[in-house]
Amino acid sequence: MAATLALSTPGVSFAAKKLVIGFAQTGAESEWRTANTESIKQAAKDAGVELKFSDAQQKQENQIKALRSFIAQKVDVIILAPLVTTGWDTVLMEAKRAKIPVILESRNVEVKDTSTWTTFVGSDFVEEGRRAARWLLDHTKSTQGDVNIVELQGTVGSDPANDRKKGFEEVIKTNPRYKIIRSQTGDFTRAKGKEVMEAFLKADAKKINVLYAHNDDMAIGAIQAIEEAGLKPGKDILVIGVDAVKGAFEAMIAGKMNVSVECSPLLGPQLMEAAKKAAAGEPLPRWIKTIEGVFPAEVAAKEFPNRKY
Ligand code: AHR
Repeated sequence: MAATLALSTPGVSFAAKKLVIGFAQTGAESEWRTANTESIKQAAKDAGVELKFSDAQQKQENQIKALRSFIAQKVDVIILAPLVTTGWDTVLMEAKRAKIPVILESRNVEVKDTSTWTTFVGSDFVEEGRRAARWLLDHTKSTQGDVNIVELQGTVGSDPANDRKKGFEEVIKTNPRYKIIRSQTGDFTRAKGKEVMEAFLKADAKKINVLYAHNDDMAIGAIQAIEEAGLKPGKDILVIGVDAVKGAFEAMIAGKMNVSVECSPLLGPQLMEAAKKAAAGEPLPRWIKTIEGVFPAEVAAKEFPNRKY
């Protein structure tokens, strides 16, 4: 239950409730995720909110345990960054029965009863996939012949992975020159991105024209694999990432990456505002959408000093 701060002035005494939020984070798989955690912790501090933080280390069962523990502690609001989309029906129903509003952040869920969560704060991942593909079509419009693409997918069963694939395919389908010749998960991490890219290169080094990675961390891992294979990332193989983290800007400035589609992790302030409204029973939109851009290598050096994550 909300911790109570007793305030008193002579003759008057009143109590202000400190909001208590339980936050179930996926883990620390990427530069993006670290920035997301920092943003939420900082915003909670600024808003005078007590934040109970749980790092699930990329395991859904740990997130479910964290949610049950938050319910047992009677927190005022739960913020959940769901690792994958499915498997949440039971625990979200438990939160609903305990009358604890659940706010989804950075990833969405697929549940039968959508009244078990209050709002989703995050990006349009399908649009991010479309933006990546539109950049590619535009950037290669004066070339001829097939454009062979390898794809590094995010965590299997997560909506950024599903939707970034969907949006990208939707756009490249409009031109038969563009073909995804290999597609595999790199679990949103640098290490896995490198490992899977090594396998792609072993099988098809001469054919690959483009790497589309569902996040920058996998793209950065893959860049290492491309260099180790004796090829030039950004030139021999075009490199497209998502997130627009500082690491991607450094790679673009070094000429090793071509573009990053922005996905902002700085959701803390919006989440605190939403949590306060949810705790007060005020209505919230189903989706609080993040506004984002696209950063090609040509603007990287100029934009780098403005980047906050
Ligand atoms: O849910 C957002 C995604 O999760 C980010 O794009 C990725 O880097 C992170 O791990």
